[in-house]
Amino acid sequence: MTGLLDGVLTVVTGGVQGIGYAVAEVAAREGARIRIIDIADGDDAVAALRAREADAGYVRGDIARESDVATAIERILERDGAIGLLVNNAGRNSYADPVTMTEAEWDDVFAVDLKGAWLMCKHALPSMIGAGTGSIVNVASVHARLTKPGMFPYAAAKSGIVGLTRSLALEVAGRGIRVNAVSPGYTRTAIVEDYLARSADPDLERQIVKAHPMGRIATPAEVAEVICFLGSDRASYVTGADWSVDGGFGVQFG
Ligand SMILES: NC(=O)c1ccc[n+]([C@@H]2O[C@H](COP(=O)([O-])OP(=O)(O)OC[C@H]3O[C@@H](n4cnc5c(N)ncnc54)[C@H](O)[C@@H]3O)[C@@H](O)[C@H]2O)c1
Repeated sequence: MTGLLDGVLTVVTGGVQGIGYAVAEVAAREGARIRIIDIADGDDAVAALRAREADAGYVRGDIARESDVATAIERILERDGAIGLLVNNAGRNSYADPVTMTEAEWDDVFAVDLKGAWLMCKHALPSMIGAGTGSIVNVASVHARLTKPGMFPYAAAKSGIVGLTRSLALEVAGRGIRVNAVSPGYTRTAIVEDYLARSADPDLERQIVKAHPMGRIATPAEVAEVICFLGSDRASYVTGADWSVDGGFGVQFG
């Protein structure tokens, strides 16, 4: 049996941990060659992937800095060939107040949660366009459609990711390249652990779980499976879409 991503050079930003690492694991299981770009050290993640016989590598870089992105993509293209799948996953939460937030803080959030995905596309697309094929999956969030107080301006940045996805999809549809978004709901990673730790309410986790129709929040692997499917040729007629992976959280009322 062949894998979903056999031989596909797959670049995952923020692949050192959380959803990004799960994407690397699932994509490797499906036959992909994995290259992680992350601001954090990737040695352990790469060692764990290689221990499972994956073809995995890592380039350190900050997706918010164009020079880092350009260098990372250049190194990958030079060493490994054309990028088949780009997963723009790296992101951060934000807990600012709209009145006291500084301009610099706003810029920091948008640099990672929106600009970084565009910079990655900017530098990866020329090789995809040259090859006449490729796929991009951007990780947005349930916050692109629903949000809650205290997380300003995360929803604005993630809504931007969905708009970026639609717009880019149209720009490159005629070149054999698909661009889609996946919007996870609550997923058990460091971001959610941090969110829970910030709350003074010891019952918050139970309330969150209770609010989910499926009675639980997602594992990173459940999100990663959808990202890899959407990024693969099996989803060959899907572009410009934003798929929710939220266990029904975002379709309920009241
Ligand atoms: N966990 C959730 O509940 C949830 C829900 C919806 C959306 N998301 C989104 O999923 C994505 C992954 O989230 P996660 O929960 O796995 O987070 P995480 O904090 O566990 O992992 C994020 C990874 O991105 C890397 N990263 C952060 N800033 C970077 C930068 N500037 N350049 C390069 N790498 C950078 C981090 O080092 C880390 O490895 C994010 O875009 C997040 O907004 C998460």
